[in-house]
Amino acid sequence: MTVQVEGNSICTVFYFWEATMETRNISIRITTPSEAERLSRIQKAAFKPLYEKYHDEGNPYLRGPEDILRRLNKCNRHYTILCDGEIVGGIFYRLYGRRSPSDEIGDGEYYLSRIYIHPDYQNKGIARKAIFLCEKEFPDARFYFVDFPEDMDKNRRCYQGAGYCDIGVRERWSEDAPVLAVFQKTVSNVFTPTEVTLPLIYEVEKDELRECLSVIHQSFKTAADSFGLTRENCPRHTSFIPLSFLESQMNWGWHMYALYAGKKIIGYMSLSKEGDGIFELHNLAVLPEYRHKGFGKLLLDHAKDKVKSLGGKTIKVGIIEESAVLKGWYIANGFVHTGTKKFDHLPFTSGYLERSV
Ligand SMILES: CC(C)(COP(=O)(O)OP(=O)(O)OC[C@H]1O[C@@H](n2cnc3c(N)ncnc32)[C@H](O)[C@@H]1OP(=O)(O)O)[C@@H](O)C(=O)NCCC(=O)NCCS
Repeated sequence: MTVQVEGNSICTVFYFWEATMETRNISIRITTPSEAERLSRIQKAAFKPLYEKYHDEGNPYLRGPEDILRRLNKCNRHYTILCDGEIVGGIFYRLYGRRSPSDEIGDGEYYLSRIYIHPDYQNKGIARKAIFLCEKEFPDARFYFVDFPEDMDKNRRCYQGAGYCDIGVRERWSEDAPVLAVFQKTVSNVFTPTEVTLPLIYEVEKDELRECLSVIHQSFKTAADSFGLTRENCPRHTSFIPLSFLESQMNWGWHMYALYAGKKIIGYMSLSKEGDGIFELHNLAVLPEYRHKGFGKLLLDHAKDKVKSLGGKTIKVGIIEESAVLKGWYIANGFVHTGTKKFDHLPFTSGYLERSV
């Protein structure tokens, strides 16, 4: 393309770029281990000019795929950035640990640790769009932090465009590292159920059981309400279980999983081994405001994969038999109905389903 620098043609070129970008589809997805090699090549290309300027030993230019692979865990969120379906960069947030030499990442805080876009795709607003897309995945975020060499105007403009502000703090991770400007973005604390699309499942830690219980209670309340179940007529319904139940299950070695949108738990399920090759699924739950997005199926698929990897052959589940929609959902997900039972202490019929994995 020939750029004419006469009259208003610079404007024309600028608008041409903007218009072209408007039509481009920028998306993110959870980074998979198989993408690490490709992303590390992009990371090298993107950070080369910075390394040539600062010669700092901590520069990502000096790192390989292992540097990306070690971010793919519960403490970080690493996303692959795509432009019209083609991988053009990566971005990752740290959820726990340090966000600067002197500060820890607190509740409701996220540290945008790194973003890199292939040089051929820079200056087109892709990073900013990727940041906005990532933020939809973190419904509990109140503050975002980012840092970058204070003399890097390009980074400053990108982060300011994404809503970050200079908070006047300057930090240095080590003697040979450049001075970093720390920017912060404050999010409204009015909670709006966000457009979470990429939650992740991880094993639950002991200190998360209380949050899991709250998710179970809120989720099963909708079932209790539809069937008129109360503490009086059905004290053992899942919507009323105490924390000690989950603590005991953890002590018995049940496999307990939560569905995380950023650091917020939005879903839950557990598995217990009941016999040779048989596992039972318990307390499958998705918070009401996150339903009908396939997250229940995500947890169900994870249960299936887990049982398979543990050498199991069958998953069983018990439901409220009268819950026709739920029963239909399990059947649509490969379960078969195996029977019913009526217990004196329960004001509904118990229904049973199972599927092989
Ligand atoms: C069952 C549950 C985990 C499904 O979660 P989800 O994230 O909405 O599941 P998916 O998006 O994968 O599937 C949605 C489907 O669930 C089915 N479903 C199951 N129970 C339902 C209910 N009570 N009301 C509406 N849909 C229900 C529907 O077929 C729905 O289809 P739709 O989105 O086309 O309307 C969730 O409804 C829940 O937490 N319910 C309360 C607790 C419960 O009953 N758990 C099961 C114990 S055995």
